[in-house]
Amino acid sequence: MGSLRGRDVLSAFDFNREDLFRLFDLAERLRGEISSRGILDYARGRVMVTAFFEPSTRTKISFQFAMARLGGEVVDFIEEASSIRKGETEEDTMRILDGYSPDVIVVRHSRPFFPHSVKDIVKAPIINGGDGTNEHPTQALLDVYTIWREFGRVDGICIGILGDLKYGRTAPSLSYILTRFNDVTIYYIAPRQLQVREEVLKKIEGRVRYHLVESVEEIASKLDVLYVTRLQKERFEDPQEYERLKGSYIITRNMLEKHRKIPMIMHPLPRVGEITTDVDTLPQAKYFEQAKNGMYVRAALLKEVLGV
Ligand code: ASP
Ligand code: CP
Repeated sequence: MGSLRGRDVLSAFDFNREDLFRLFDLAERLRGEISSRGILDYARGRVMVTAFFEPSTRTKISFQFAMARLGGEVVDFIEEASSIRKGETEEDTMRILDGYSPDVIVVRHSRPFFPHSVKDIVKAPIINGGDGTNEHPTQALLDVYTIWREFGRVDGICIGILGDLKYGRTAPSLSYILTRFNDVTIYYIAPRQLQVREEVLKKIEGRVRYHLVESVEEIASKLDVLYVTRLQKERFEDPQEYERLKGSYIITRNMLEKHRKIPMIMHPLPRVGEITTDVDTLPQAKYFEQAKNGMYVRAALLKEVLGV
């Protein structure tokens, strides 16, 4: 059996099929152990640094909880309270954090490939917690873990990924991780201006089936999963374009009830109006459960990367 011990996790392509099934099984095991024992001791004596240069609720907190549940320690770097404010560079900051010998560093940054650019000045394994528009590999990990838990498989799945596919990073990573499964179909659903980037399609070419469409209605009857994403307001170059596109796709209970039931509705969150709250109580609305699953599968990932 392989392992991710000591490895950087920068891209969803860093997980092979065997890694994924091993992590799913480990996440299930840890879920049981955490539920009966609360705090485990696998990571006792190990330290994780979270270095987030961009806002986060789920990724940062679920990694911190995962490490706490594994019995390890967490040190949180807070940019707004750091010497970045005195003009220190981010590269020097990473060098300093690494100098205290953490066992793993989770990094998020608004600049694509920031974790890649510092991996050689940092000795600790780096886990990419989101780098600009590029990727969010551990989000993809929890997404496929959630699909696997729901259907008992990911092979053969038909998924519609809806929303801002141009500036979003969850759609690329989810697409990449889905290449590890067989017979997957992806429908990219977006207004033309926000369709998925060419570079993403190039990387999945020949490895999954995909189609570009403009509305959910066209393909609702085919989907096993509808994966909704928000407009990435902070990444729009033209605020007026954001205003024009705001509200161009909204999933409501009424709209869902008009079609054949889509078995599963997902969203990486945060949502900012693209799924109305009346959807939350439908049994197929899985986005809050999806966020919870993140903690268990990130605990599994940390356990492997730490080699504990
Ligand atoms: N939280 C996810 C991310 O950081 C999705 C989003 O912010 O829309 O990419
Ligand atoms: N899904 C996700 O990455 O959420 P945060 O941005 O809150 O971490």
